[in-house]
Amino acid sequence: MSYTLTTPLYYVNDRAHLGSTYTTLACDAIARYQRLCGEQVVFITGCDEHGQKIQRTAEAAGVSPQDHCDRISAGYRDLWDRWQISHDRFIRTTDPRHHELVAQFFARVEARGDVVEGRQQGWYCVACEEFKDDPHEAQDPECPTHRRPLEWRDEVNLFFRLSRYQAEIEALIAQPDFIQPPSRRREVENFVAQGLRDFSISRIDLPWGIPVPGHPGHTFYVWFDALLGYLSALLAADGSGPPGPVDLDALLQRGWPAQLHVIGKDILRFHAVYWPAMLLSAGLPLPRQVFGHGFLTREGQKMGKSLGNVLDPEVLLERCGRDPVRWYLLRDIPFGDDGDFQQQRFTDLVNNDLANTIGNLLNRTSSMARKWFDGAVPPAGEASAGDHPLAQATRLAGEQACAGLERLDFRRAAEAVLQLATAANGYLNDQAPWKRMKLPDQETGVAADLYAVLEATRSVAVLLAPLVPELSARMLHQLGLEPFDSAASGVAAQPKAATSPWLAAQRWGLLPPGQPLPPPEPVLLRLELDSPL
Ligand code: MSP
Repeated sequence: MSYTLTTPLYYVNDRAHLGSTYTTLACDAIARYQRLCGEQVVFITGCDEHGQKIQRTAEAAGVSPQDHCDRISAGYRDLWDRWQISHDRFIRTTDPRHHELVAQFFARVEARGDVVEGRQQGWYCVACEEFKDDPHEAQDPECPTHRRPLEWRDEVNLFFRLSRYQAEIEALIAQPDFIQPPSRRREVENFVAQGLRDFSISRIDLPWGIPVPGHPGHTFYVWFDALLGYLSALLAADGSGPPGPVDLDALLQRGWPAQLHVIGKDILRFHAVYWPAMLLSAGLPLPRQVFGHGFLTREGQKMGKSLGNVLDPEVLLERCGRDPVRWYLLRDIPFGDDGDFQQQRFTDLVNNDLANTIGNLLNRTSSMARKWFDGAVPPAGEASAGDHPLAQATRLAGEQACAGLERLDFRRAAEAVLQLATAANGYLNDQAPWKRMKLPDQETGVAADLYAVLEATRSVAVLLAPLVPELSARMLHQLGLEPFDSAASGVAAQPKAATSPWLAAQRWGLLPPGQPLPPPEPVLLRLELDSPL
């Protein structure tokens, strides 16, 4: 069985911003962790390319919607490559195979009697591509998220009979694991408790969409089409392919159902209510979990073009590099809560945690070993015992890091690794090998101490692999070891068992005494930002 996880499929109305980068980096850490544990991962990302918002954006830019989508989605692909995102699939909803899949899916839903014609009246937000329930203001209502005027709509559309699925959806969201974190579950429970209403799944007079078979003049509502992109991504290895019959049931052998949809909290209702009902209607299994993360602000303010404070992922990448940003976002913001990007805190955390605590631990320990033990890992002596204090600290860090990553608690995982590095630094300070080395007959003891600290450092590097893969690889290289390939799924017979090389590498005492240590190279440069990002 595979472990399928998804980011949202990002709208191509604009280039990627920090919000989409945040979700994608978090998913990347999960995908890497699951691969390292031996899972056959299918990590899906991509672009959502239909709908009125995109049609209007293209019109405003004076280009065809297709050209516009081609340009922006190529930008996403390129950006994710440069961030070294390890996705396995990149789906575009303008892919002809996706059109075919949507048509097949609709045929099933229609055959089930779940499509009816109805009149849709209400206030619509084009930026959300969503009807708003009850705008607070009677006059000139605005979207609470986008602060833009809502538009009145009155049209005859096709409706999906969501109301039929009230009982199933109630039972689904009552499962404690389905919606995470728990605070988000209550939001959805309240919505469902009001009684589910049928929702419109087509639009008339909107050419930039997939035509609804058998209903001339109708195109699919962008959300109906977009959610199905998660299935289309599983059709072919590169998400594309020639048009032709699509076998929906064959997706069960290609990674469906997904284990996890990671999304922002604003699109929870679509994923936790509409999407499962659509799948039930089509007779397909449901995803196991929907995780709604929080929103990022910048120095306490909502990021927006009008405020001119949008954090550009391209700028972050160029000025700061990948690992510092990964570390800061994953270590500092509890995944699920809103978070605030603060430049000073960002540089402080990166410099303290990665450069001072972790980088220096490696530098000073390996340079002593190089100097006093012929450029190699010293003999382990007493340090090979499993009850060495650093062996115990290492075991604990491994358990906690894995427990954190399993529950998408990146903060806990990062803190566990940091505690191990702090413990190793503390041990080194207490033992003060630089003093003992000057005394007679201390060499064996010093060797054992340095071995223990180097071995704990190796574990730090191992445990960092899903969170900051480049730093992890450089540290392992400095210890004369091979890095882990967390971007490619392995073929472990049994995921989460010690058959996974990464889990096996968490055992104490694996650093081979006598192994030559390569010449020192910095593993991470300090972050010095002399102007706002
Ligand atoms: N196209 C839909 C998703 C369809 S999934 C089948 C969409 N796209 S989006 O590009 O507008 O948003 C993608 C994600 O980015 C959403 O999950 C949204 O919550 C997230 N974010 C947008 N701004 C954000 C922040 N400022 N902070 C964190 N995430 C934010 O919705």
